[in-house]
Amino acid sequence: MKLTKTKAELRDMLKDIRREGKSIGLVPTMGYLHEGHLSLIRKARQENDIVVVSIFVNPTQFGEGEDYGTYPRDLDRDTGRCREAGADIVFAPEAEEMYAKTNAAFVDMSRLTDRLCGASRPGHFRGVMTVVAKLFNIVLPDRAYFGQKDAQQVLVVKRMVRDLDFDVHIVEAPIVRETDGLAMSSRNTYLSPAERRAALVLSQSLFEARQRIEGGERRADVIRNGIAGQISSQPLARLDYAEVVDAETLEPLREIRGSVLIAVAARLGDTRLIDNIKLEV
Ligand code: PAF
Repeated sequence: MKLTKTKAELRDMLKDIRREGKSIGLVPTMGYLHEGHLSLIRKARQENDIVVVSIFVNPTQFGEGEDYGTYPRDLDRDTGRCREAGADIVFAPEAEEMYAKTNAAFVDMSRLTDRLCGASRPGHFRGVMTVVAKLFNIVLPDRAYFGQKDAQQVLVVKRMVRDLDFDVHIVEAPIVRETDGLAMSSRNTYLSPAERRAALVLSQSLFEARQRIEGGERRADVIRNGIAGQISSQPLARLDYAEVVDAETLEPLREIRGSVLIAVAARLGDTRLIDNIKLEV
């Protein structure tokens, strides 16, 4: 496995690979890899000749007062995990390598990005789309892999690919959970033991909502209020949002029918966590 920190060297490595007609899978990450990331790398390994993992804590997707400075970083540990999961190349640039000081061009999108996480993190998806577009242009992958935990991110990236004609297939992989149900996230490492226990309220409220829907409940507001009430009743959790939306448009639903995304975000202390479930009803 090779590690490179520059765009030029990465492009150079990939030129010959592409000329040989080999397929390239890209797994974009911000590092501090957990089992969720590794499942993406393993899937990419199965489906491509060459697997590139990018590790880059992208400053443009963090808002003021967010955790850009403290986001966990451990490149040695990450490269070891990438190797074990079957990656061929790790691309780990510094911010100065990815963005020129005078960088003025960004990718933006209306509608899909102004709700759910976009509503509480203005500018976040502009940063995500910009860095993902840059990675697509640098790597020119055949396939790129994203986790369903960031369901809105996957939707936004798919829409960007469609609207801007990127020649890449987006592969979405299921959420990987801890044995007690908590969705894996690099940010889980911020939680105190008490917050870690309290964080379970996110997945539990979603699983209970699923049970109620399987039991016949179709009123979206009943489900939404149930989840919001459950999260708000946990003293260590502060609800950001609980939404029942169409899984393609993210429009709020009145009736639970079709492809449904139920998404939540909450703060445990200073840590903002998200989780979701998708249902076909
Ligand atoms: O999901 C993430 O880790 C990031 O948003 C991504 C896609 C790597 C872009 O920085």
